[in-house]
Amino acid sequence: MKKLYFVFLLFSFLFACGDDTPTPYDGNRLTHITYAPIPYKLPNLDTALGFLAMPIPVDNPLTVEGVELGRRLFYDPILSGDSTQSCASCHKQALAFTDGNSVSKGIAGQFGRRSAMSLENIGFMNKGLFWDGRTNTLEAQALLPVEDPIELHHTWGNLEQKLRQHPDYPTRFRKAFGILNKSEINKLLASKAMAQFERTLISGNAKVDKIRAKEAGVQFTNDETAGFELFFNVGFAPDAQCGHCHSGSLYTNHLYENNGLDSALALTDFRDNGLGGFNQNPNDNGKFRTPSLRNIALTAPYMHDGRFNTLEEVMAHYASGGHYSETRNPFLPQIRDIRLSAKQQRQLIAFMKTLTDTTFTTNPAFKNPF
Ligand code: HEC
Ligand code: HEC
Repeated sequence: MKKLYFVFLLFSFLFACGDDTPTPYDGNRLTHITYAPIPYKLPNLDTALGFLAMPIPVDNPLTVEGVELGRRLFYDPILSGDSTQSCASCHKQALAFTDGNSVSKGIAGQFGRRSAMSLENIGFMNKGLFWDGRTNTLEAQALLPVEDPIELHHTWGNLEQKLRQHPDYPTRFRKAFGILNKSEINKLLASKAMAQFERTLISGNAKVDKIRAKEAGVQFTNDETAGFELFFNVGFAPDAQCGHCHSGSLYTNHLYENNGLDSALALTDFRDNGLGGFNQNPNDNGKFRTPSLRNIALTAPYMHDGRFNTLEEVMAHYASGGHYSETRNPFLPQIRDIRLSAKQQRQLIAFMKTLTDTTFTTNPAFKNPF
């Protein structure tokens, strides 16, 4: 036993020696930079606004340094194969992190088939990301656009090299994640940082929130009140059904629904199968994630393929009850049956406009840092 202990001591001594012997600095070590990350505090909206608590993975807590690194990566065209596009090319702050196009355009000019989604309150979306729910976490999601041929069309191997040789990023990776050497910079840490930044993108300061918080002097107009009552079926207003799917403080039930956009006589007739295309269950064909309606006035065009240019077109769709298919939600024909008048449609739009939060779209913390 004693002998063993001695051998152990000898070994630790040798190792300690190895560490202390001044090795010539290879230019890649980062240990001279202090690693003392500061926890990032998210605003407490759970109680104030009734948002659910944001799930944060235990292996990726938010830190000031991690969020800032993520913001830089998000805005940096270094992420794309030809250094022309970044995440922000398709997720613009002024448009609540959408791109204003019906479907997104990648670096080589090809069009994707779906509309860029808003990233507001993305940290609360915990029932799958994307229109079809095909990814579970922001960390996993952030890996995808870089290599997508019709998005950033780069390779992670190449990008990791660029980040390791960059004059600024290695210091930031050290400060955010405590890595000892530039060689440890990799896609997993990059995606963790981007996910941290995305979790800070919280919008909860719209007119509707001020009214909920009983802020002095803020009131709905008559049209907004009427729209609110139709939307949530309050009082004697006819039930426009909106609040069943666009429910809660985020105006989404987090579920996948078919709101009647396409007619399909058979389950296999949809142009885009949505959730069913991902989980291979034909009974989910034509279903897409119910989007939050926060900042909806800023995120035209609308729907997963950006087919409607205005909220008026959206309302005309709902008032018609949409197109028949087996997976169409039964609420749709019920909306048709109440025969929303032109005035009621305008009132619903007036209410939706109270969900616009310009403090979110102008918040300096979310801006391009370069
Ligand atoms: C070429 C345009 C484009 C670029 C570049 C791009 N995105 Fe997107 N993003 C989209 C589109 C389109 C969707 C919806 C795709 C779908 O559902 O199939 C999307 C969806 C998302 C979602 C899911 C949102 C939700 O509500 O579920 C996240 C998160 C996201 N993008 C983050 C990023 C990040 C991070 C980057 C950079 C690494 C990035 N995007 C780069 C177009 C783009
Ligand atoms: C059955 C559930 C359901 C009902 C009821 C419903 N919606 Fe939707 N809504 C959805 C889904 C799902 C989408 C996305 C569909 C897609 O793109 O394939 C959507 C999309 C939208 C969009 C576009 C969002 C965007 O980001 O592009 C608006 C605006 C909207 N709904 C408003 C309303 C209004 C107003 C009502 C009431 C008249 C209503 N919805 C009723 C489920 C519903």
